[in-house]
Amino acid sequence: MKRILLLGANGMFGQDAFEIFTASGYMVLKAGRGECDVTNRELVQKFFYKNDFDLVINAAAYTKVDDAESHKAEAFAVNAEGAKNVAEAANKKSVPVVFISTDYVFDGEKTSPYEVGDKTNPLSVYGASKLRGEENTRAANLQHYIIRTSWLYGKNGKNFVDTMLNMAKSQKVIRVVNDQFGCPTWTHDLAFGIKKIIEEKTPFGTYHVCGGGVTSWYEFAKKIFEIAAVDVSVTPVSTSEFPRPARRPKFSAMKNDGMCRDWREALEKYLTSSR
Ligand SMILES: NC(=O)c1ccc[n+]([C@@H]2O[C@H](COP(=O)([O-])OP(=O)(O)OC[C@H]3O[C@@H](n4cnc5c(N)ncnc54)[C@H](OP(=O)(O)O)[C@@H]3O)[C@@H](O)[C@H]2O)c1
Repeated sequence: MKRILLLGANGMFGQDAFEIFTASGYMVLKAGRGECDVTNRELVQKFFYKNDFDLVINAAAYTKVDDAESHKAEAFAVNAEGAKNVAEAANKKSVPVVFISTDYVFDGEKTSPYEVGDKTNPLSVYGASKLRGEENTRAANLQHYIIRTSWLYGKNGKNFVDTMLNMAKSQKVIRVVNDQFGCPTWTHDLAFGIKKIIEEKTPFGTYHVCGGGVTSWYEFAKKIFEIAAVDVSVTPVSTSEFPRPARRPKFSAMKNDGMCRDWREALEKYLTSSR
């Protein structure tokens, strides 16, 4: 399998995925919203008909978690209907589809890492739209990989790591929530995890590809400053002190079955590599 169609290619994950798959010898056809708007069924079908590839990675998504609360139709159009359009078109062409999903499909009431078969119960519009995207993908194309990931950061997008480092340039004290737990994941490791799944001909199905271990945003921030050797004070605060439009799960760590290295190791590599 050497030719890949990458949808959402201009996003944070998409740009890293392009670099990694291309460097590994794949021919990657990049498509952003301008080339292939996933919400347009007819256009998606035409695009799939005109181009040749052996697998599609669907990383096109509406990712503004808070805005989605007041833009439900838009979030569902991309994350749910878009996923269906892509999976259907791939099925018509008999090619497998990789759909990137999220830890926000869970409600966070568990106290140990979520397993693939655990009950989903999203708390937010974003989570619900991505869950519908998972269901639509499974229904439209038996050849599917649903890849759930979480707390993404990477050099090509707005993310928590860079936000923390930028805040530290103008603030001596930074307040960070200490009562939400999850798995930080470097986009680079997500791309390698997906590559491994494809290359090892892993059975089609749902997988958790996220950083190993569990942490809170507070501990994550402290680790960022420790590795980057930035002298700043981090104060733990509760979620209730940071009201946001979308509810987040308290605990959305996922069991990753060794798909990615420990989150601390990945963070160190990210911060010490040229960005
Ligand atoms: N970021 C996280 O923390 C996180 C956590 C868990 C899961 N995920 C999932 O991981 C995947 C990658 O996330 P990311 O952070 O890399 O997202 P991102 O940077 O927001 O990229 C998403 C891309 O999708 C494109 N897109 C939006 N609407 C589209 C449409 N109608 N047709 C085609 N393309 C469209 C966007 O293009 P425009 O820029 O033109 O809008 C953007 O380039 C997504 O599926 C996301 O749900 C992310």
